[in-house]
Amino acid sequence: MKVYRNVPLKEFNTFGIAARARRLVVIEDDVDLALSPFAANHPSLILGAGSDTVFTHDYNGMVIMLEQKTLVTVDGCNVRAWAGMRMDDLVQWTLDNGLYGLENLSAIPGTVGAAAVQNVGAYGVEAKDSIVSVETISLGSSKRHRYTGDECHFAYRTSRFKEPGNGDELVVWVTFALSREYVPNLSYTALEGLPHATAQELREAITDLRWQKLPRPEEHGSAGSFFKNPVVDEATYQRLKAEHPDMPAPHAITQPHCPIVTYKLSAGWLIDCAGWKGKTMGRAGVWPKNALVLYNTGGCTGEEVMALAKAIQDDVTAKFGVTLQPEAIII
Ligand code: EPU
Repeated sequence: MKVYRNVPLKEFNTFGIAARARRLVVIEDDVDLALSPFAANHPSLILGAGSDTVFTHDYNGMVIMLEQKTLVTVDGCNVRAWAGMRMDDLVQWTLDNGLYGLENLSAIPGTVGAAAVQNVGAYGVEAKDSIVSVETISLGSSKRHRYTGDECHFAYRTSRFKEPGNGDELVVWVTFALSREYVPNLSYTALEGLPHATAQELREAITDLRWQKLPRPEEHGSAGSFFKNPVVDEATYQRLKAEHPDMPAPHAITQPHCPIVTYKLSAGWLIDCAGWKGKTMGRAGVWPKNALVLYNTGGCTGEEVMALAKAIQDDVTAKFGVTLQPEAIII
């Protein structure tokens, strides 16, 4: 275990915001977890690769991270991965070992643990589609627990680990059920032309597609999609469709045994249509190629990001009557 004091966090959040933590603890393996020195040190903040986090102030407590390294075991088609491993490294590892199902999640920044906590998703696939269990340790009691996929309460960009009161559960291992047979998921329109691609070729196409729409982390800090796509009722959808015939077709959401259909709209389109693409406020900006992404134009603070986010939220509410919620976690 490594412990650091008064640590700059700029390198530990993909937005590149210059906050500091009173203490940073990096856990290297299961042996460290057994030592679990956490209870006496609250408040604490669990940070993955900092790819979905915006710091608006210094953190006057203990930031806990898992060492980012490759630790994987395989049992049949089940792959158990260390939560500190980079998700993109896991995707490549699975392909190298002839296991399929994660390729559409290529190039998502962040760790395996964060992928479970956020139920990350892209190009027709969500992490929950293959997660069979998530193992945690409670920072308060040091008790370990294994949750089945159902017990994780996965939904769009959320899970039980984001529910109020569950913030002290540190995700340490995630197990994915994969397949030895490669069946490509080409449901995302831009992938339709790739029926003959190998899994590695699909991964590369997805990686290219992703970087066409998102800033490259080495050039500009961001947190990927800053807002979640809003889910609205039938009346709101019909009103918007009548007012904006060019609005992209939403994703209709149905629940088993429930007649009510809701619609997931494109936040990127709403923000773009409201005229924000390419605009800046202070040193925070809206990515010129994708209005769903806020980025650091250079030296930006968390307050500047949040001021821009609030201006966008207010404008989208005024123009469309729709509320946008951040996908990013605001500290
Ligand atoms: N659009 C615009 N203008 C924009 C951005 C988007 O008109 O500036 C339109 C697009 O033309 C398209 C629609 O909005 O018709 C949807 O855009 P896209 O397919 O790029 O997907 P998204 O809804 O913006 C979501 C995820 C992404 C994921 C992509 C692909 C969320 C919040 N975002 O974006 O995830 O990569 O689908 O599956 O659900 C992330 O979560 O960080 C992330 C990047």
